[in-house]
Amino acid sequence: MTVNTKAAALRPLVTAPRLREMKVRGEKIVMLTAYDASFAAQCDAAGVDIILVGDSLGMVVQGHDSTLPASLDHLVYHSAAVARGNATALVLADLPFMTFRDVATALTSAARLMAEGGAAMVKVEGAGYVLDVIRALVERQIPVCAHLGLTPQSVHAFGGYKVQGKSKVAGERLMDEALAVQEAGASLLVLECIPADLAVRITEALTIPTIGIGAGVHCDGQVLVLYDMLGVTPGKKPRFSKDFLAGKGSVQEAIKAYVNAVRSGSFPAAEHSF
Ligand code: KIV
Repeated sequence: MTVNTKAAALRPLVTAPRLREMKVRGEKIVMLTAYDASFAAQCDAAGVDIILVGDSLGMVVQGHDSTLPASLDHLVYHSAAVARGNATALVLADLPFMTFRDVATALTSAARLMAEGGAAMVKVEGAGYVLDVIRALVERQIPVCAHLGLTPQSVHAFGGYKVQGKSKVAGERLMDEALAVQEAGASLLVLECIPADLAVRITEALTIPTIGIGAGVHCDGQVLVLYDMLGVTPGKKPRFSKDFLAGKGSVQEAIKAYVNAVRSGSFPAAEHSF
């Protein structure tokens, strides 16, 4: 059987077990979003480990003011394009708003992201009822990335895009949720916009890798939205992001600079953290 012929002679395929080994070895994991084949190829060539087809596409590609309008059809379409452009990175696709509202819906949605979208892992936001969803997906051999902290699909419940886990009680709740998603079988955990000291404690308490965005430098890896790190997203730049294209001659150089900065621990700096 021939599998992924594009990957021949390149680095080994990035897989869920390999990410766990990277954590054990203390190697930083680099994640970046992409939504099409050309940028996916750029990410892969620059050494990005995980390409996230995020529902952030609702904002940065479609121009909405939240991720909620991004649909499963949109995610499948963009994930398939990314998978075609990629050779060796792990393709992670978001389960969009309400597509994992119960176990049956989550299974059908995840199957589409993997079978039609070419994803190797799916991401779900939150804990609570989502723990049953994670267990059901993992039992069916679908690797899962959990996402806690500022989960953008909860923007209306949160009353805006606000840093989470700031009080002692909220921090303890996040720690409990992190342990619970790991126990449910998640392979990876994205921590978004939480205090850096809380992210350190969660990262040390877990055996699965943590990937931070606005969660300080001590997570096991980092993720940014591609258009933020290329400085092309209109409007105010998020505190946790950095324009890596500034002063560089090409998109490829910018992505390589991001990869190197994450691997060396020089990004994020204190100014990008909470
Ligand atoms: O949709 C997305 O791009 C994300 C990242 C911000 C982690 O979930």
